[in-house]
Amino acid sequence: MHKYRLATTKLLNTFHSSLPVIFEETGVSRINAKNSNSPILSRRRHYSSFSELEGKRPGIILGIETSCDDTGAAVVTTDRRVLGESLHSQLQIHLNHGGIIPPIARHLHEQNIGRIIREATDKANVSLEDIDAIATTVKPGLALSLLVGVKWGKDMCLKGEKPFIPIHHMEAHALTARMLENINFPYLVLLISGGHCLLAVAKGINDFLLLGRSIDDAPGEAFDKTARRLKLHNMDAGSSLSGGAAIEHYAKQGNPEAFQFPTPMYKYRDCNWSFAGLKFIALRHILREERKHEVEGSDLVPSLPDICASFQHAVVMHLCKKIQRGMIYAEMKNLIPENNRILVVSGGVACNDYVKRGISIVCEEYGYKLVCPPKNLCTDNGVMIAWNGVEKWRENIDVVPHTELDTVDIEAKSPFGTDLQDEIRNLNIKCKRIKMSQLFDSSSNPSQSDIIA
Ligand code: KG4
Ligand code: ZN
Repeated sequence: MHKYRLATTKLLNTFHSSLPVIFEETGVSRINAKNSNSPILSRRRHYSSFSELEGKRPGIILGIETSCDDTGAAVVTTDRRVLGESLHSQLQIHLNHGGIIPPIARHLHEQNIGRIIREATDKANVSLEDIDAIATTVKPGLALSLLVGVKWGKDMCLKGEKPFIPIHHMEAHALTARMLENINFPYLVLLISGGHCLLAVAKGINDFLLLGRSIDDAPGEAFDKTARRLKLHNMDAGSSLSGGAAIEHYAKQGNPEAFQFPTPMYKYRDCNWSFAGLKFIALRHILREERKHEVEGSDLVPSLPDICASFQHAVVMHLCKKIQRGMIYAEMKNLIPENNRILVVSGGVACNDYVKRGISIVCEEYGYKLVCPPKNLCTDNGVMIAWNGVEKWRENIDVVPHTELDTVDIEAKSPFGTDLQDEIRNLNIKCKRIKMSQLFDSSSNPSQSDIIA
């Protein structure tokens, strides 16, 4: 595991000399008099912890996210109100480069973070003084990107003498749904994004059981690389969409059974995934089609919608099979009470309607309620970080005083929860077939669309 320790003492000295500039830039230390009808403005008293403040007014948490290619900030209250948020996506620039280049991502975060924090706090009509704590993503993610947010979070904590709340990016994804509706622990959670793929039981704010994960690519990564190879970024509709969203778009016109994909890891009765093989098979189909139709340069294969649909379908079937085993395991071990069968699905790939349709079939079969946050909260954003900050602050978990900021480091890689992968594999759990034919508009060959364990 790589740990990037911040040379905090040195940083603090540097920060002190540059603070006035930074805060003039963000504008967060001044009171915004424009919206003087805000209930928050009337409050001037400062409370140092949630227990001290409880019952007097809602707590106010600023969240900062810079773990990958989105610069996000948001102000969220302990009574679940998003007072203000702002987001800058680097997607278009990375699409032009064919992937995320970390120094470019860092540069873009540095260019935008001041404005994003200022927009979020201005919309919320709060000053630094009004904020009770600052939550910032410290792990996992691109080290260069994480450092930008953490520098700003710590800097503001020092200036305002506010506590800092370090946030695990994936835990934040896993808990966002609790801001939107009353979801009690324990519940099942599936996180599917460009960097992650995991199935877990959320037992508490910082208490997770890891049932399965991808052993190679994350599904979003496989979507992105396949989309790139299909040259979807050259198409009108694909030029401004992420790879996954572009594949979903073109798949709507295609036949999900036109191209064959094998079932990855069919011999492994666990909850782990492998998406690299599916990506490789997609590449083989593309190469064959290019040869067959003598496609060259920036030209596209005519069977593009069918390849998109078949690839997307294979990803969904693979996801569903392992989710099914996770549900059986959870039942065997009484991990989820019968009256709380909830599966939260989040992360960028959870924006995909076909993915959600597939997962909802498995949920129906096992009596689970499927909960997906809206698209803007599934992808990376500042709100989920602020909300995780709210949850931690209320319970006094990981709340670091401004005098102890040097105890906080970033971690590019970070484990998630207690690992149960081996235990599940050893149980050798067999899954029954589930008819997935509802996934098709016209179910031409239902046998191929079954889940077979
Ligand atoms: O959660 P996210 O914003 O960032 C992290 O990776 O943490 O997820 C981004 C990923 C990208 O790989 C993108 O292609 C994928 O989510 N994605 C989708 C869709 N929208 C975004 N994948 C499939 N279908 C979509 N509609
Ligand atoms: Zn994410």
